[in-house]
Amino acid sequence: MTNTPPPAQASDSQQGEPPETPTVEAAPADTPTVMYDPSAEPGVARIRRTGPFIATKEYRRFTEFADAVRRETFIGLCYGPAGVGKTLSARRYARWDKVEELLLGWGRRQDSDAAVYAALARSRTVFYTPTTTCTPRQLDHDLDQLLSRIDICVAQHRQAQTALPRSIHAQTPPTVVDLLIVDEAERLTQPSLDHLRDRFDRRAMGLVLIGMPGIDRSLSRHPQLYSRIGFAHQYRPLADDELAFVLTRHWSKLGLTLDLTDFTDAQAVAAVGRITRGNFRLVHRLFTQVARVMKINNLAVITSDVIETARSTLVIGDT
Ligand SMILES: Nc1ncnc2c1ncn2[C@@H]1O[C@H](COP(=O)(O)OP(=O)(O)OP(=O)(O)O)[C@@H](O)[C@H]1O
Ligand SMILES: [Mg+2]
Repeated sequence: MTNTPPPAQASDSQQGEPPETPTVEAAPADTPTVMYDPSAEPGVARIRRTGPFIATKEYRRFTEFADAVRRETFIGLCYGPAGVGKTLSARRYARWDKVEELLLGWGRRQDSDAAVYAALARSRTVFYTPTTTCTPRQLDHDLDQLLSRIDICVAQHRQAQTALPRSIHAQTPPTVVDLLIVDEAERLTQPSLDHLRDRFDRRAMGLVLIGMPGIDRSLSRHPQLYSRIGFAHQYRPLADDELAFVLTRHWSKLGLTLDLTDFTDAQAVAAVGRITRGNFRLVHRLFTQVARVMKINNLAVITSDVIETARSTLVIGDT
């Protein structure tokens, strides 16, 4: 395969623990999807999903970390390079894909909403993404709104479960949410961080701050918040065995079967590992180009040359 000339490039470039094996959880559709777009809503970022969620080891480590933060009512810091899957894992943990639309839309109720109430009762978690211009006032408004809406939903769920009169549930103190996850935490200014710390002190609740590597250093400039951080969790890229698992799916999307005992396939996988270093987002971007290279050149096998050609069309920074 190495003697064959490299395939032609696509014309325009695109800018860009148990169990041990990863599993694919829920498969909405293998085609790229855009989840609920609440762009009109403050405090929420539009998220692009590129296929089914894969429950990796890192995801499981994240869930253990978040469980511990919740249990100990500490502040936890989760950091890792861009594109490794921090946001997706946090949203998954909070079941946010399931509940976001109802919480933000807050429209007329339907029978199917019972499943959302149940998901909220199980997760008891808020996932929040501040805007780049987030003020303490906006933070306050958004969080109050989310917390009170979740309380209402969970009260409805409990009422349906026990069939107690509504008045009894109305007396239940609304302290349902016991974990707040703030994504893109670098966006928070000093006043917003102070505000968050104050909220954290007033309510028995864990707080997870998600950011890029180095967020720990920038937060150390806020000693009062910093001294409350009980756990730091480094979110790592895909390990080799998991990358192979993810690549199996990319191969099959292209109508091919990945065989790691085949020399050509093994070389191609090694090339993907070298280029992406297990970065989820980069793997996806690379395979968008691989598909184009394959199509343009009418190829039926993914070789390391195909991977290198696809890579040459991408802008890749440090991963
Ligand atoms: N567990 C997963 N299963 C399937 N795809 C995933 C998973 N995690 C990440 N991805 C893919 O990687 C992309 C990037 O993930 P995500 O946005 O969660 O990264 P991030 O670490 O939050 O990056 P950033 O620091 O830039 O916000 C997703 O859009 C998705 O295509
Ligand atoms: Mg993110």
